[in-house]
Amino acid sequence: MTHTAGTPRHHGFGPMRRKEDARFIRGRGKYVDDIKLPGMLHGAILHSPHAHARIRSIDVGAAEAHPKVKAVITGETLEAMNLAWMPTLSNDVQAVLATDKVRFQGQEVAFVIAEDHYSARDALELIDVDYDPLPVVSDARTAMDEDAPVIRDDLEGRKDNHIFDWEAGDRARTEEVFAVADVVVSQDMLYPRVHPAPLETCGIVADMDKVTGKLTVWATTQAPHAHRTLYALVAGLPEHKIRVISPDIGGGFGNKVGIYPGYVCSIVGSILTGRPVKWVEDRSENLMTTSFARDYHMSGSIAATRDGKVLGVRVKTLADHGAFNGSAQPTKFPAGFFHVFTGSYDMQAAHCEVTGVYTNKAPGGVAYACSFRITEAVYLVERLMDLLAAELDVDPAELRMKNLLQPEQFPYTCATGWEYDSGDYATTLRLALEMAGYEALRKEQAEKRARGELMGIGISFFTEAVGAGPRKHMDILGFGMADGAELRVHPTGKAVLRISVQTQGQGHETTFAQIVAEELGIPADDVEVVHGDTDQTPFGLGTYGSRSTPVSGAATAVVTRKVRERARLVAGAMLEADPGDLEWSEGRWFVRGDPNSGVTIQEIAMAAHGSVELPEGVEGHLDATTVYNPPNLTYPYGAYICVVDVDAGTGKVSVRRIIAVDDCGVRINPMIVEGQVHGGLADGIGMALMQVMAFDEDGNHLGASFMDYLLPTSMECPSWELGATVTPSPHHPLGAKGVGESATVGSPPAVVNAVVDALKPYGVRHADIPLTPANVWRTLQGRPFRT
Ligand code: CDP
Repeated sequence: MTHTAGTPRHHGFGPMRRKEDARFIRGRGKYVDDIKLPGMLHGAILHSPHAHARIRSIDVGAAEAHPKVKAVITGETLEAMNLAWMPTLSNDVQAVLATDKVRFQGQEVAFVIAEDHYSARDALELIDVDYDPLPVVSDARTAMDEDAPVIRDDLEGRKDNHIFDWEAGDRARTEEVFAVADVVVSQDMLYPRVHPAPLETCGIVADMDKVTGKLTVWATTQAPHAHRTLYALVAGLPEHKIRVISPDIGGGFGNKVGIYPGYVCSIVGSILTGRPVKWVEDRSENLMTTSFARDYHMSGSIAATRDGKVLGVRVKTLADHGAFNGSAQPTKFPAGFFHVFTGSYDMQAAHCEVTGVYTNKAPGGVAYACSFRITEAVYLVERLMDLLAAELDVDPAELRMKNLLQPEQFPYTCATGWEYDSGDYATTLRLALEMAGYEALRKEQAEKRARGELMGIGISFFTEAVGAGPRKHMDILGFGMADGAELRVHPTGKAVLRISVQTQGQGHETTFAQIVAEELGIPADDVEVVHGDTDQTPFGLGTYGSRSTPVSGAATAVVTRKVRERARLVAGAMLEADPGDLEWSEGRWFVRGDPNSGVTIQEIAMAAHGSVELPEGVEGHLDATTVYNPPNLTYPYGAYICVVDVDAGTGKVSVRRIIAVDDCGVRINPMIVEGQVHGGLADGIGMALMQVMAFDEDGNHLGASFMDYLLPTSMECPSWELGATVTPSPHHPLGAKGVGESATVGSPPAVVNAVVDALKPYGVRHADIPLTPANVWRTLQGRPFRT
């Protein structure tokens, strides 16, 4: 089941090798840092060493006198242009360059533009900033204390660090089911601050052409069209005078959704100097200042009957949003899709309350490889399910099996209002248990426990909600989340597809060509996919939250079908037949009942551009456009099983196996899907076992390099064991659901559940992530081992 890479198929779906790899494996990818323009200057940012301090003065005289420096931009420069503050994705404002105070360590204070990168960096040392340090809030749990310093005193009338209170679900109904439950299990848990940490950091080249008045921006952005419109709104330029190009991107994972101060400064720098300006951040800048993820303190409870029927879940969450509320999510959901926390289970009621607070940490709150806080939601419910199983003394697989939604319940509206589209959950869990050899594993565990060895088996069953999103349900900053697509078939039958989503390594150039191939019967190699350039592609909100296949993939199917229908009319004229009498198969329209009398799509394309007399009202050529507004999200799901061994002496966790059975509906390219799952599983091991952005009480960032912020490598990852079930989405034209982030969402609870299971003989019921050797070792201290 692991190997799907076989003979590449050229017509449609299947394990076709990635078109883009031809350039990537030869080192021929073109990333932002590869862009070199004549006369290009280089920018560097001065960052604050303090987490909270008033700025008394900034002296840039010596830096400006540096022979290679062309300009130094400060908050004051930007203030004069009304650009010192920029809007965030959550309707807050964020300082581009600090004017009054700095509010987190690493905050952007000044921007130097010089002839070369090294001179720009050197000149940063010549800037003298006089700071007056202030008390710091580095723990969200103290942000609302009476004596906590007010971080956002720039906001009119602000007296504390409170951002929002938000709730979902039915509080009264939830209280009722909790009141009658035989068993209630509660647990506080932290999903700590982590970072998407893409291999390529963020960067930009901004080029303002003063002659044409056109601004061209090459940037590492997952959402080129959204960026262009935001620049247009903020700068007052018309959209056609701004071109945003997103070249090859070395991983995004949510980190490249927002607009960062370095982007604004580079654009301003190009306007001021009249020359292109490049700014590419280094690793520490990326880790310290760009969007983090998670940072949710959750107090959850689950209620059930004595025989293990789950009745309800409730949770109170304290959300740390850092110094500016730059969290990325649809406008009306300040906690994103966190309220999908009822997971994959049939229950009567659920309720959540989320309070957001400011702290002296970097802003953000992005959906790091997940759909807007679903990672946190899945972690919560999957930990609660294991805690309940321990309390009831039943097997966690059995408890899940008993409570999973049944196929006939779909479409299913959960207790917080989400309408799950399709699923056959029990079949997926059963397959995962079979692949794992679950019973044998439990037997092995019992034998090992008897010998004092620590082995753990962890299960997670997750449901995601991806493909944001239906206009009627959501928008981001007022923008609906529909995606455009354009397809043009040339006279020879080769095609160009233009889409609004932007690949960052997911292989869209291949899979989107495969969709056209499947629907039009031409080889995928004959389809060129154009993306990542606002001058060449239709509007759409970009790639994140596994929305590409659910939204742009659907748009591609719809636009291809439109072309196919046009082709039917042309074929009718060619065959002198009524188009209604034609049938489609394998790239041909033919007369029903007479398969020999037909024309191929290539012949039709030539005729559509040629001299065949077309019926009244039928346009020539073969192209179409569409805008796809999804009727609902898609709900991919999966069953993951993790097997770990823990060394009680050192606390070291070794992940021995991970079995991952995913159901993302119809798979366009199973090989790419597996690649996506591999990456997400590695991510999950990272989050569960080693990644955390820690801060000391002065707000010093303790994870600003890969020496401290640990990423998993092949050494920590087992050989993945993958399986698949296929339950099509009923509302997606191809039956496909998103998958890019399933494994990042589903795997952390499987790993944590396995580690906690391993520690059961010590009476451990929960341990917060990351489960580093030190944390595991500490958890075991003072606890006797009991079999
Ligand atoms: O938005 P993003 O590209 O990150 O996520 P996605 O829509 O889940 O797609 C990730 C990659 O997997 C793309 O190349 C998809 O076309 C491919 N995929 C697939 O082949 N079949 C699916 N059912 C879902 C995704």
